[in-house]
Amino acid sequence: MNNNKRENSKNNPTAIVIFGGTGDLSKKKLLPALFHLYIEGFLPEVFRVIGISRKELSDENYRKLVEEAIVAKGHEHGKELIGKFLENIYYKKGCSGESCTYEDLSYLLLKLDAEAGMCMNKLFYLSVPPSSYGDIFKHLSASGLNTPCGGEGAGWARVLVEKPFGENLETAKALDSQLTAFFKEEQIFRIDHYLAKDAVQNLLAFRFSNLLFEDSWHNGDIEKVHIKLYENFGIEGRGSFYDESGALRDVGQNHMLQILALIAMENQGVFEPENIIKERAKVFQALKIYSQEEAAVNSVRAQYKGYLDTEGVLKDSKTETYFLVKAFIENERWKGVPFYLESGKALGESKVEIVVEFKAAPHCVCGDEDSHNHKNILTLSIQPKQAVEMKFWVKKPGMAFKLEEQSLKFEYEKEKNGNGQNINRLPDAYEKVLYDCIAGDRTLFATSGEVEAAWKFIDPIIMTWKRGSPELDFYEIGEKPKIDL
Ligand code: BG6
Repeated sequence: MNNNKRENSKNNPTAIVIFGGTGDLSKKKLLPALFHLYIEGFLPEVFRVIGISRKELSDENYRKLVEEAIVAKGHEHGKELIGKFLENIYYKKGCSGESCTYEDLSYLLLKLDAEAGMCMNKLFYLSVPPSSYGDIFKHLSASGLNTPCGGEGAGWARVLVEKPFGENLETAKALDSQLTAFFKEEQIFRIDHYLAKDAVQNLLAFRFSNLLFEDSWHNGDIEKVHIKLYENFGIEGRGSFYDESGALRDVGQNHMLQILALIAMENQGVFEPENIIKERAKVFQALKIYSQEEAAVNSVRAQYKGYLDTEGVLKDSKTETYFLVKAFIENERWKGVPFYLESGKALGESKVEIVVEFKAAPHCVCGDEDSHNHKNILTLSIQPKQAVEMKFWVKKPGMAFKLEEQSLKFEYEKEKNGNGQNINRLPDAYEKVLYDCIAGDRTLFATSGEVEAAWKFIDPIIMTWKRGSPELDFYEIGEKPKIDL
């Protein structure tokens, strides 16, 4: 966040090793993100990318795959630029559990260092199932790749890991001890790609740069907060993973709680990574942990009809594809304010937004209308559009003293230049993830403390659901369940 504290990414020669280099995430996100960073000048001047997967591919075959991934994203850059980028791409066939993979990798990295005439930093991106993390960490450490070029002073070694970080508190702790056995905490970057979304970072900018809102940002003025993550598509080829996970673990335990933390955290006035991380963590720790009885009345869950026909899903599965959970933060600022977390697959629309409902003005000049309906509503939209909208009340023109609702709205996409083009290109979250990891900025990464506190909140709810309470509801594809809290 504080740009002075970031390492200069240009002078930070780095070799980026992607485990799972031919997988879906690599093709759809990581490789196009690296290319974008490259053309925008955000990658180090000296960089190499090494893809690793089980497939038998040559460097040339892999470069072709990378080129296709870039072109599929619709990049309008000429062959020459892509060709220059591809010169930095390499491939190694390998398996997470085989030591020969790491011997080959060490050899290649040494060779690339020697050719570049320097000790490059090593960034390991684990785009593989978490069950492979332990093996990869162990082997990286055994090959000395957790301390690049054999010393503390020269270069660094960092690992980027993807969620899920466990499936409950116990397994999260076990995974963490595997990670920290071979790498120090400051070398581990746990990705929550929601934190890296531009619109999510805007939550901090918006909150802490506008006195108007910050002064009312507490239980005295705010009635409730509703965080929505709606998706209009189903499980799509992820049946067996999703059926084990369910919606609450998939997006509630991580993305939505991170949004909640940014909405609710304090501003220490010093915008350094460690302060932001500390304040976010305090929110996680202040979440009210429910007893079984409380979990049953503060949550509902549902499954879309037809989910059971998805490949990989158990025929009698009770996994939720939708949830609505009411959370409370037990601190002075937020005591008594419900935070609704709501998410679902196969709903009628795809959108992510935060709706902050203010209390009605205590002495409303409302004519003869009921003052309790005159509330201000602030909607912070994350996607598909980045927008901020404020609803407020004004006098309706005319002889009678009547109020009407109006709104002020700001949409980033409407900001156009003279040629009618958008002036704001929103970087993809994965560009930010890679860029920040290279710059050593940990602000937008989840810590083990946050992950564990999130599980402490989620576990009792899932346990209560497993005992059948509240009952699982069902909804039609394209419709929201008709249940509420
Ligand atoms: C992922 C979940 O973490 O986030 C997916 O596993 C979900 O189920 C996705 O669809 C949502 O992310 P985004 O960036 O597409 O809104």
